[in-house]
Amino acid sequence: MQAVVAVTERVRALDTDLSPAKPFLKWAGGKRRVVPKLLEYLDGPMGRYHEPFVGGGALFFSLAQTAAEGHGWARLTDMNLRLVRAYRGIRDDLEGVLERLADFRDGHCEDHYYRVRANSVDDSEVDADVAAWMIYLNKTGFNGLYRVNKKGGFNVPIGRYENPNIRDEANLRAVSRVLADVEIEHADYGDVFYAAEKGDVVYFDPPYVPLTKTASFTAYTKGGFGLADQVKLRDIAWELKQRGVRVLLSNHDTPEVRDLYKDFEIEQILVKRAINSRSSGRGAVAEVVIS
Ligand SMILES: C[S@@+](CC[C@H](N)C(=O)[O-])C[C@H]1O[C@@H](n2cnc3c(N)ncnc32)[C@H](O)[C@@H]1O
Repeated sequence: MQAVVAVTERVRALDTDLSPAKPFLKWAGGKRRVVPKLLEYLDGPMGRYHEPFVGGGALFFSLAQTAAEGHGWARLTDMNLRLVRAYRGIRDDLEGVLERLADFRDGHCEDHYYRVRANSVDDSEVDADVAAWMIYLNKTGFNGLYRVNKKGGFNVPIGRYENPNIRDEANLRAVSRVLADVEIEHADYGDVFYAAEKGDVVYFDPPYVPLTKTASFTAYTKGGFGLADQVKLRDIAWELKQRGVRVLLSNHDTPEVRDLYKDFEIEQILVKRAINSRSSGRGAVAEVVIS
């Protein structure tokens, strides 16, 4: 009997000592370093939280530590279907994801990486398959990049990691708990125009306007993200503001961006970049927080 009590106590202790959920993928444009600045804009009461370019979700996971209130308090969307299915797999079938990751971890070697990479994971109807596939390739692929060719084939080479943490069970459990109350949809950013209501917060973290004409990184999804999208995004942000939605948006600090958002509040911040295929490109970059 005493043993049972002791175990129950330990489980309780573990439950109260839950570590906060962190992004489960490294994602180009990840906002981990900028989160404290963005949070300054988000104090006070807020309706639902919308993140239409969720990616790794750094701001979402940070907010979830304090702002999570009630079922459906947040709505996360992205055009990358595999990413959306990864979130759903962790939310709805955590044990399935952990099981698959254990197999991937045990089988990990260069050959295995390229075999998994070549799997046509989109054919599977099981989100846990997609989640494990995404996590494994993200933890073991070069620089944690997600890059696809024109046909949508994932084409990142293997990375050089001594001991990649392929199955981070504690964090995945925390992520699954946080996602339990959250809506996750595969949608274009334009969808938020219909979903957001007065008092809600929308954080837009789109693929950025390139810093130079040659330096563009728009390979998150097959379609890319051009100037017409940047203009449409600005128009949606403006309409939402008129409706009483609190809008926050990140982008590079370029003359084009300042011109696009000349009727908004703009603050410059300097950001150290974590993901860049050339290490020489890892200096600080000027960004803007637009509200
Ligand atoms: C800069 S990343 C977001 C980074 C994220 N905030 C983070 O902390 O990791 C941009 C995201 O926009 C998504 N995306 C690209 N085009 C889109 C579109 N038309 N509608 C919605 N999402 C899109 C990409 O799949 C990518 O995940």
